[in-house]
Amino acid sequence: MTPRRTGMPAVTIRRALPGDLDRCCAIESACYGPEGATRERIEMRIHRYPEGFLVAAQGGLIVGFINSCATRRDELSGEELKDMVGHETDGENMVVFSLAVDPPCRGLGYSTMLMREFIGTARRLGKSAILLLCRQGMVAYYRRYGFLHRGASGSTHGGLRWQEMRLPLLDTPPRGDRAPS
Ligand SMILES: CC(C)(COP(=O)(O)OP(=O)(O)OC[C@H]1O[C@@H](n2cnc3c(N)ncnc32)[C@H](O)[C@@H]1OP(=O)(O)O)[C@@H](O)C(=O)NCCC(=O)NCCS
Repeated sequence: MTPRRTGMPAVTIRRALPGDLDRCCAIESACYGPEGATRERIEMRIHRYPEGFLVAAQGGLIVGFINSCATRRDELSGEELKDMVGHETDGENMVVFSLAVDPPCRGLGYSTMLMREFIGTARRLGKSAILLLCRQGMVAYYRRYGFLHRGASGSTHGGLRWQEMRLPLLDTPPRGDRAPS
């Protein structure tokens, strides 16, 4: 995949590799604390579905990532998908688990680059939709990419309330994989 910036070390968005595990675990922990995915879960996601696990690397250092599974399911409230139970590479939906940018690297557009590439990847893979759960405060963020708010989820992960978002990919023009202006 191509470098995205000039005048500073090039940013590359690429698939995660097994050697990225330590850095992805550190960023997951910095972003989500104890509610974040375990090392075992992150390792499984890289191993089982690398096409759905993208990292942003600047000058060779990973600064953020997005990971996911694919499934035929349309319902996200269960915990088992997080362990890739129900993952099927040819499933019609992609489900985002984590979008995470290292705290010192925020506000520089990395999540935008990751989201654009991820949405483009989902389209190239022929997926029907991208699904995710997020906190209420992130609903506006995902709407900028074309996600629709489906309402409150039944998930009680971490004892918190979660909102369900869905980006339809079929029969919609590819506005979602352009950066919001
Ligand atoms: C949310 C997160 C991924 C954003 O990463 P980032 O690289 O700093 O984001 P960008 O620099 O690409 O910002 C893109 C745009 O989204 C906006 N944005 C960032 N966080 C936002 C939020 N919580 N709500 C609404 N908009 C938000 C930015 O202001 C920016 O807008 P602009 O283009 O008008 O300047 C990052 O803050 C993070 O890792 N947070 C902790 C983990 C998390 O909450 N992940 C999402 C889980 S659902």
